[in-house]
Formats: sequence, structure tokens, C-alpha cells
Amino acid sequence: MASAFFPRARNGLRGVVEAPGDKSISHRAVLLGCLSEETVEVSGFLRSADTLATVEAVRALGVTVDDRGDGRLSVEGHGWEGLREPEDVIDVKNAGTLMRLLPGILASLAFFTVLTGDASIRRRPMARILEPLQAMGAQIWARDHGRLPPISVRGGPLSGVTHRMPVASAQVKSCLLLAGLRAAGETVIEEPGPSRDHTERLLRRGGALVEREGAVDGPGRIRVAPMRGGLRLRSVTVPGDLSSAAFLLVAALLVPGSRIAVQGVGLNPTRTGLLQVLARMGADLSVEYGATDAEELVGSIRARSSELRAVDVGPDEVPLLIDELPIWALAAARADGVSRLRGASELRVKESDRLSALSAFLGSLGVHVAEHPDGLDIEGRPEGWDGGSVASMGDHRLAMVGAVAGYVSTQGVSVDDTDCMAVSYPGFAATMEALTEGGSSA
Ligand code: S3P
Repeated sequence: MASAFFPRARNGLRGVVEAPGDKSISHRAVLLGCLSEETVEVSGFLRSADTLATVEAVRALGVTVDDRGDGRLSVEGHGWEGLREPEDVIDVKNAGTLMRLLPGILASLAFFTVLTGDASIRRRPMARILEPLQAMGAQIWARDHGRLPPISVRGGPLSGVTHRMPVASAQVKSCLLLAGLRAAGETVIEEPGPSRDHTERLLRRGGALVEREGAVDGPGRIRVAPMRGGLRLRSVTVPGDLSSAAFLLVAALLVPGSRIAVQGVGLNPTRTGLLQVLARMGADLSVEYGATDAEELVGSIRARSSELRAVDVGPDEVPLLIDELPIWALAAARADGVSRLRGASELRVKESDRLSALSAFLGSLGVHVAEHPDGLDIEGRPEGWDGGSVASMGDHRLAMVGAVAGYVSTQGVSVDDTDCMAVSYPGFAATMEALTEGGSSA
């Protein structure tokens, strides 16, 4: 476990950088790739601890993956029939997306699989996938009365159901969409608000019948019809990850004298809530959409140092920036006024309890934070903070919040465990170093 010190960025951040590949879409490219009847060429794949766990998982299920190490992968799918019983337990490591999506594939396959992961994964709630899969007829079990990993699955025949998700979750929705492809009859998933729709977009291109009814920014019903045979996906182009780019963009907003651009960022409207919230705070951000022939919108985002004002983020907006809320909280800690976050109790069951960790961390910097069951009140300090130390709790996003807090401090911040950054953004520290040294101008 390596600790690191992140000093003040004295001269501002400057440069143009590429966003690393999108984590959510990288997982899906591999998982859906192995359901394809033909080899799928993936480009822009994020090589991170989480997504490499997905590559290992599908290899354990008998799928050949040729990883060229530069973001290009070939996934030799042979459809559902090509998957085999693994010889050992599958270790998802820290990857919640793998832990929740893979059972949707396994639920209909007539073999036995056990899934486990690291200490953080073994604390994350799984009843949200077990209960609907059991309602579809799946044989699936988990520790602690079906609540926690490890999970074991023995697949078999499934029937379609209608499932109302109490909280909008793309992982639960995707799990049920994958199971629904193999069920007898239609499967309907009702979501209380929009969650990321990468699975739907890829499934549709692969030939599956998936439809969403409802307003883009409101509750929806997603229907999936059973599919004969495998998907037909020849290639997947993974865009850059806005959730990772968010750390660079917020750092540029907060460090005086900064001007950066992040290119190749995925701009799927189910993921861009942070940009809208930062715009309301007065952030100097501009987005340029690029041309794309793939299913995901991509573009560049420029950010310049800005004076921010406080903002409220409510339950309707939370799913659109769920993974960016930790770095948003740091922006709120430098804004003028009190920012209020509500409807975000899901943050308590992410890689760590992010509400309590953020409250402790911001408090240690001298920022007044009131913790609520489902949110935070953050009293911003536009004058900034001296520095301090942060316990990342092994949570990649908290470790990167700690690093950005250091760049914007006067005396620097030390982060106890920075290895975990490799879960989603292995090149984070190197990119920040290039930006603090000026790079090519934005
Ligand atoms: C993800 C969905 C979200 C998100 C997670 C990735 C996905 O989780 O927080 O980091 O790839 O589907 P929930 O489905 O629990 O909201």
C-alpha cells in the first residue's frame, strides 16, 4: 500500500490530455463481447484493475481474449453456448460492475459458478440482484441471507418478470437485461430515474430488442425481449471516461491560473450531470461535441480556473453524477456558500461509505460539513485550506479527491493508499504531473 504526498500546484494546470477509457463501457465491451457470435474488436479499452478482472473472469469461463496492451482487445465470443463452467472461484477483486452484471449472464447457463472479491466488494449489497433473478427462476445464493458476496449461481431456465428498482441502478438494470435475453417472455425493468444506458445501446447494436419508455430525465420502463442465438457485435469503441476526467476538470477549476482541455470524453447524457451542476456553480467549462459513428457521444471539455458558488444537488440529479459526487464535494468545499446534497444514500454502499469518508476528510481540512443519512451540507471555504492527510479507505475515487485537495492546498495533502487509483485511473498521477508541468497549451 503506497502512500503519496500531493503538493500545491503553484503555477496552475496547463495542457491538453486524452481521457482514459470508460470503465463502465470497458466492462460491458468484454462481457457482451463473449456473448457475441463473432470475435469482437475492442478499442480504447481501459486497462485498469477493475476491467482486467473482467478479462480474467471471461477467460475463466472459457473465452479467449487477446489483450494487446494498448487498449485493443479481441474477445473471441462464441455466443452463450461458448461459455464453460469455471474450474475455480471467480475473483472480481474490487469490481462492483463485474460482480453485479456477470450473474445476469450466468443465471441461464447450466453450470455452477462462485463469485467473490476483495473486502470492499464483500460488504456491498447483492440482494438487489439476487431477488429479481430468483423471481425469474434463477438458482442463486449469497452469504448473510442473500445479502453479501460470495455469490454462487447454478443456471437454468428463466422466465421474464417485471421488476421495479427502488433505486436507479445501471448495474441492476444491466444484470436483468442480460438475464432477460435468455428468459421465456418479456422482462420489464422499471427505474425511478434515468441510470446510465450503455448496456441498452450495445445490446441494440448487437441485435437485441430493448426499448425504454418514459421521459429521458424521468422514470422509465425498459423492456427486453428474449433473443435467439448470440449478439452480433463486431467492434466496440470505448470512449474516454468522464468520471475520470472529472478529477482533472475540477482540479483545473480550483487551481488558480489553470487552463486545460480533456479530449475524447464520453458525453452520454446519462453521465453528464456533473457538467450541469458545475455550470450552475459558475464554472468556466465548455464542451465541444465531436462526430461519432458509434453509439456513444464523444467530445472535448475545456476548463479554466473559476470562482464557484454553492449549489444544491437533489435526488433526481444524483444518478447522473453518482460517481462524480466525491470530487463535486471538493468543488463545493471551495465554493462560496453552503451546498446541499440530498437523495444520495447510495454513496454509503459504494467502494466505501463515501458520505462519511468525505465528511471526515473535508472536516480535517477545516471545512464545515454536516452529514445527513442521504447527503451532506458543505460550507464552502473559497479562501482554501492549508493541507493535511486523508485516509482513502482503499477507495480509488477518494484517493483522487485527496490528491486534488493537495494540488489546491497551500501545504499539500498526503494520501495513505494511492495504489487503489489503479482501479479506474492507473495514469492519474502521471497525467496530473504533465498538467502541472504545462504540457501542450489548451
Ligand atoms: C455502474 C453503475 C453505477 C456506478 C458504478 C458503475 C455501471 O452503480 O456507481 O460505478 O457500470 O453500471 P449503480 O448501478 O450501483 O448505481
